[in-house]
Amino acid sequence: MAVNETVVLIGCGRLGSSILEGWLLTETVAAENLIILSPSEKPVAEAARAKGARINPRLEALTEAQVIVLAVKPAKWREVVTPLLPFLGDRAVILSVMAGVTAPTLAEGIGGWPIVRVMPTTGVSRGRGVASVWSADADARALGRALFEPMAETVDLNEEALMDAATAVAGSGAAYFYAFTEALARAGEAAGLDAATADVLARATLRSAADAMGDDPLEVLIDRIASPGGSTRAGLDALSRDGRLTAMTHDTVAAAVRRNREMG
Ligand SMILES: NC(=O)c1ccc[n+]([C@@H]2O[C@H](COP(=O)([O-])OP(=O)(O)OC[C@H]3O[C@@H](n4cnc5c(N)ncnc54)[C@H](OP(=O)(O)O)[C@@H]3O)[C@@H](O)[C@H]2O)c1
Repeated sequence: MAVNETVVLIGCGRLGSSILEGWLLTETVAAENLIILSPSEKPVAEAARAKGARINPRLEALTEAQVIVLAVKPAKWREVVTPLLPFLGDRAVILSVMAGVTAPTLAEGIGGWPIVRVMPTTGVSRGRGVASVWSADADARALGRALFEPMAETVDLNEEALMDAATAVAGSGAAYFYAFTEALARAGEAAGLDAATADVLARATLRSAADAMGDDPLEVLIDRIASPGGSTRAGLDALSRDGRLTAMTHDTVAAAVRRNREMG
């Protein structure tokens, strides 16, 4: 679903640029419907400008906005948003991608407008991200989905508090898979491979596993590779001996959830 009204993107850093790239790639938002606010010049914003986007226009232009996307650092949002408030129209929705800034906190500074929180990954730039969406307002939630679904596998959260868990799984998850891939490579080295070969094998295996995954249940995928009595089954048995894989993964996600809460 394309969003046909004006979308304002505030902040064009790592995540803001990824979102902008994703919108242009998937044609979710037409460049001429985009307003970008950015203190410094950014390549993606310049590419959007060449297609018709407006960058740092007079603030009066914000009155036509359907949605204001806040993609600045959590410590900055009050200072950034306060001067814009007199220019926002009644129908505007505030969409925050900021980690750890809750809707009640946002409402203290931006009262009166519906708020939707989205936690995306930077994979949105390639149209292959992950996004968790929460809002107390059904229309704002639908708008959040419409903006992210074309470029991310998108899930709805029933409670805002679940953002911390969703971030610990999806936001941090890629780093866990990379850490496991690194450990797999070092284990391959310990088993006699040279370091470079072990790296190539481990990384290529992660890519190929992701490619082959599809939508089949994970147990089915595992059973397809691990035949009874075979070497993969022996490896998996060692991996989960005494529940250690489950315990380690639970500890990992719980630590990330705790840290998200502390930072919120
Ligand atoms: N990076 C991620 O993977 C990720 C994932 C999920 C959520 N988030 C959230 O996304 C937000 C941005 O993170 P980030 O990693 O993209 O940070 P970042 O790269 O530092 O980007 C923040 C951007 O805000 C811009 N900015 C500062 N003052 C501004 C103003 N007055 N008006 C407009 N823009 C302004 C900065 O512009 P200049 O470059 O010109 O200084 C900078 O490009 C954070 O709240 C973070 O929690 C990030």
